[in-house]
Amino acid sequence: ETVDWNPDETGKGQFDHFMLKEIHTQPTSLQKTLEGRLDPASGEIELDIETDLSEVDSVQLVGCGTSYHAALFGASLLNRCDVPARAIRASEYDLTTGSLTDNTLFIAVTQSGETADTLSALRQVNEEGVETLAVTNVVQSTAAREADEPVYIRAGPEIGVAATKTFSSQAAVLTLLSQHLSDIVDSGVPADNLDRLVSDMADLPDAVERVLQTSDAKRLAREYLDMNAYFFIGRGLGCSVAKEGALKFKEITYEHAEGFASGELKHGPLALVTDRTPVFAVCTDGSDKTVTNAKEAKTRGAPIVAICPSDHQIMDAADEHLYVPDRHPVCTNLLANVQLQLLSYYCATELDREIDKPRNLAKSVTVE
Ligand code: G6P
Repeated sequence: ETVDWNPDETGKGQFDHFMLKEIHTQPTSLQKTLEGRLDPASGEIELDIETDLSEVDSVQLVGCGTSYHAALFGASLLNRCDVPARAIRASEYDLTTGSLTDNTLFIAVTQSGETADTLSALRQVNEEGVETLAVTNVVQSTAAREADEPVYIRAGPEIGVAATKTFSSQAAVLTLLSQHLSDIVDSGVPADNLDRLVSDMADLPDAVERVLQTSDAKRLAREYLDMNAYFFIGRGLGCSVAKEGALKFKEITYEHAEGFASGELKHGPLALVTDRTPVFAVCTDGSDKTVTNAKEAKTRGAPIVAICPSDHQIMDAADEHLYVPDRHPVCTNLLANVQLQLLSYYCATELDREIDKPRNLAKSVTVE
């Protein structure tokens, strides 16, 4: 596969930072990611994978940082389709982690295709002879070459150290891949509301554009500048978005941020909650559990910012709201992530941080 990288993509254009440009590029980059891979008219998903995956009995998804969060998102979708899957942090990987069978599919999730921890895990499993895929952005990267087959996310070059558009494209590709696998492996069943998933995915680029045009994140960022810590909570797919939201926030604002499963708040982090620890609650499914968890924090004085559709029951407890439309949960969650990208960006600009090159961080870490 060749990928056209337009020279215009390498400048900042009208934007102050590459990160903001890359956030705003998502309608186009997602369009490229999805092009030719799904057909809303027929409801078909057509991911061009040549490797025969019909014998796969389990999946391991391995990555670092943002790519690990995309791996969590993908594993959650696969499990919902009865394809047993686990996301594993590449730095923790060895052959004793999880149960590798002869029919395990190993998926390296890596934007750059050059992250040492991820390559090390890929090399270990290549020795075992299991099937491997690399979900990557960079054509002919090391991961693309060393895996049995690359699956390109086609997001275009990402210059900002903090990954934004590539997370959306990774999650989109893993969504398609989860459906591809559920179709062909024995245990697999189709996702709930598959027709809606396909049509909402096809509309995702436009939905992202609408969120970008109407987001209240810039105003909201100014309200919460002088705080002690920032907590991000969510369940299921929303948990991976909460973790990614917190990672983005700490990377570029240098403020203390943590993201975790909503239900974990009461098992420790609640001890830290005060009126100076805003809680960002990703409420992107019908469950009321995150609402209960957010209320526990509110009782201790924490401001609650809900990232949810307008009619979600958390709105009663929320002090502020970042709106996302009510779509298939995959799409609602990816839209929530876009709101959190903007929130991090605008908090970091208010704090005058070095957004595109945060201190101590590198775009691609080539040592273990
Ligand atoms: C570094 C970057 C992160 C990135 C991670 C994984 O830590 O700062 O933004 O998510 O590497 O990179 P990869 O290229 O493997 O996705």
